[in-house]
Amino acid sequence: MATQEKEAPSGLERFYRTMLQEIYWCELHLRDVLENMEERASTDELKSAFRTHRKETDNHVTRLEKIFYLEGMGAQPIFCVGMQGLFDEGWQVIDETEEGSAHRDAALIVAAQKVEHYEIAAYGSMSTLAKTLGFQEATDLLEQTLAEEKKTDGILTRLAESDINIDASIEPADEEQLPLPDTGSITTESEPAVAAMKKATAGMDAGAGSKSTREGTEAGAPGSADALLVDDSGEPKGKKRAGQHTPKK
Ligand SMILES: [Fe+2]
Ligand SMILES: [Fe+2]
Repeated sequence: MATQEKEAPSGLERFYRTMLQEIYWCELHLRDVLENMEERASTDELKSAFRTHRKETDNHVTRLEKIFYLEGMGAQPIFCVGMQGLFDEGWQVIDETEEGSAHRDAALIVAAQKVEHYEIAAYGSMSTLAKTLGFQEATDLLEQTLAEEKKTDGILTRLAESDINIDASIEPADEEQLPLPDTGSITTESEPAVAAMKKATAGMDAGAGSKSTREGTEAGAPGSADALLVDDSGEPKGKKRAGQHTPKK
């Protein structure tokens, strides 16, 4: 009887491999991102948390390389659009907060926890896929990393709750960076509630709420929320059908 050739990977296995390559891209970049966050944090505890997780992230890279080896794949990263968005948010936080402030530390924790939650979702899903596909060793490796991501998320929550958020809550706002709402025309009994709502929603219609997009951003302009929903020709995304073209003007 002729030796049976190894079956081509299923669609699910190909999807799993792509996820591995995307998270590999994330982990490679996270080493630098965590180093940057450590430099920008002001408390020793937060610096130490970022430093510790950077070392763990080295292990996350190594584990993924082992999984690639087990899969018979080269270690080839693929750009991850989701994580890139979170990296951009991290830079925005640094841009919009004052060096050495508790506000910056609180915002760095939020940015870092968004990254951890993304990783928790990715590793949790990949672990489930690996289990389904019968890759026990890969499942174990993915779950080790998943546990470290969860542990880091918990450490960041404890740091926020123990001191940093409290310190940030009593720190005066930077007037230049956080414009106060116009309350001059409010005369009703609901003034405090209306003022709070206006403050909370300031800049929400301008995309991710970055300083650069809050001011003077038109719908559809780069950086606005609408820009995410229209294509280069200004047409709403997803409305075009295959074969449909935009007429030249
Ligand atoms: Fe990681
Ligand atoms: Fe992480």
